[in-house]
Amino acid sequence: MAESFKLVRIPTLKTVADFRNHVASLGIDLPCEDAIATRSASPLTRACDGVSINGKRIGNRFAIQPMEGWDGTNTGGITDEVLRRWQRFGESGAKMIYGGEAMAVRPDGRANPNQLIINEQNKAGLAKIRESLLSAHRARYGTTEDLVIGFQLTHSGRFCKPNDKFRMEPRVAYRHPILDAKFKVTSDEQVWTDAEIEQLIQNYVQAAKVAADVGADFVDIKHCHGYLLHEFLSAHTRPGKYGGAFENRTRILRDIISGIRAAGNKIDIGVRLSAFDFVPFKPDAVLSRPGKLGPGVPEDFSHCLPYRYAFSVNHSNPVEYDLTETFQFAELCRQLGVKILNLSAGSPYYNPHIQRPAIYPPSDGYQPPEDPLVGVARQINVVRRIKARAPGDLIIVGTGYSYLQEYLPHVAQYVVRNGWTDVVGLGRMVLAYPEVLADAVSKGALATKSICRTFSDCTTAPRNGMISGCYPLDKYYSAKPEFQKLKDIKKAVGA
Ligand SMILES: Cc1cc2nc3c(=O)[nH]c(=O)nc-3n(C[C@H](O)[C@H](O)[C@H](O)COP(=O)(O)O)c2cc1C
Ligand code: SF4
Repeated sequence: MAESFKLVRIPTLKTVADFRNHVASLGIDLPCEDAIATRSASPLTRACDGVSINGKRIGNRFAIQPMEGWDGTNTGGITDEVLRRWQRFGESGAKMIYGGEAMAVRPDGRANPNQLIINEQNKAGLAKIRESLLSAHRARYGTTEDLVIGFQLTHSGRFCKPNDKFRMEPRVAYRHPILDAKFKVTSDEQVWTDAEIEQLIQNYVQAAKVAADVGADFVDIKHCHGYLLHEFLSAHTRPGKYGGAFENRTRILRDIISGIRAAGNKIDIGVRLSAFDFVPFKPDAVLSRPGKLGPGVPEDFSHCLPYRYAFSVNHSNPVEYDLTETFQFAELCRQLGVKILNLSAGSPYYNPHIQRPAIYPPSDGYQPPEDPLVGVARQINVVRRIKARAPGDLIIVGTGYSYLQEYLPHVAQYVVRNGWTDVVGLGRMVLAYPEVLADAVSKGALATKSICRTFSDCTTAPRNGMISGCYPLDKYYSAKPEFQKLKDIKKAVGA
């Protein structure tokens, strides 16, 4: 894994032929179209037929993925910075806003003291960010009849820092042989009891009511990135009704949905899932030196085989995935009436290269252990396999496209036109360049200077107690003193 490879930067690939040659040299399956298609010739402009969300037909095939900003008030309310981000999501032209950003269903479930909390007290603010997104979208694109907005509901579990940016207060599904040390889990008292889970399920039900009250079209029940409900999917070693068999490990989702319906709430439901996972990675100590993080290598897992501490991983070789339970989970979602399945992978905290492929690592990460295009292709091909088995009434959203840069539209067109996914979800690229796909489909070209180059400042900043944002490319953040601080941090660690 730590063998060095020659990283070819995307901007050096001047033509689609160059891009294809590079993809071929990597031996990966990552097809693309010859040119950016516009208007009705682009599959990205077609509505999603067959499924309606809150009675609406989704007007095109690109979505904004949820992205936290670490910039709410300390009671989980909105600020001008949150408002600005949501307005920019509206300006993007995407007709699906998948979650906006993770919102904690209760104060102790926050991943940082400034995460939004979805409760009665914050209702007016949540209504305001939704309204401002709608009016920004309407001003530019005329109609919002075909735009759907969801709120992402979460509890951060192992990654909770609800009271202090630098103090972890983890609550976990089970004791983990590798992650416990990294996230300060030292006692069985940090493991949720079954009675506490029953209360948590009620918190989700109440949060879904708040979402419906303020006009959200759907709620996402977050099951990704190592946060609490994702961790429960791998609670093989947990005794009792929420651990062990697949049926027990998915009980929380079933109970949340039946609780929402029992309360008379008809809001539509999506689930964001890490479709596969790997063992945690760390910088290779042999190849690290002061001022330079080493390339990522897996943590030693020899003492914990079979590796039953991640969802949809190969238990005998946890640097490979096994999709058996992912397929089962997708089928469960269908049975439960879930309308959107949004697929991601891994975790930004312990294996960021599989979750958000990047050329520059975040300050607590490692240099890429593989060409980041390998990570992009891995996610796209997993989504393709899940989509091939999914029923027509489940909308599939794919992730991990930002690293494609100039070739994002070419690949996005291919995967949608060929039914590899229904919708292409955009994360980091939108922080840098909200209108990326709106420009592609209207002008047939991108503004090169606005393209996200995966510098990872939007991750490094919150890891070091600052608000997130695209510091290098969004002038609103470049003008802040934090930008210089970030440069110094990155230089010191060699990120
Ligand atoms: C700053 C930042 C914040 C994020 N916050 C969330 C979040 O709140 N919920 C979530 O499901 N994913 C979150 N993600 C992950 C993104 O939704 C997305 O999966 C990831 O960035 C990979 O997509 P990309 O290659 O388009 O960036 C975040 C990513 C970034 C960069
Ligand atoms: S800071 Fe900007 S350029 Fe860097 S990864 Fe984030 S969005 Fe992309």
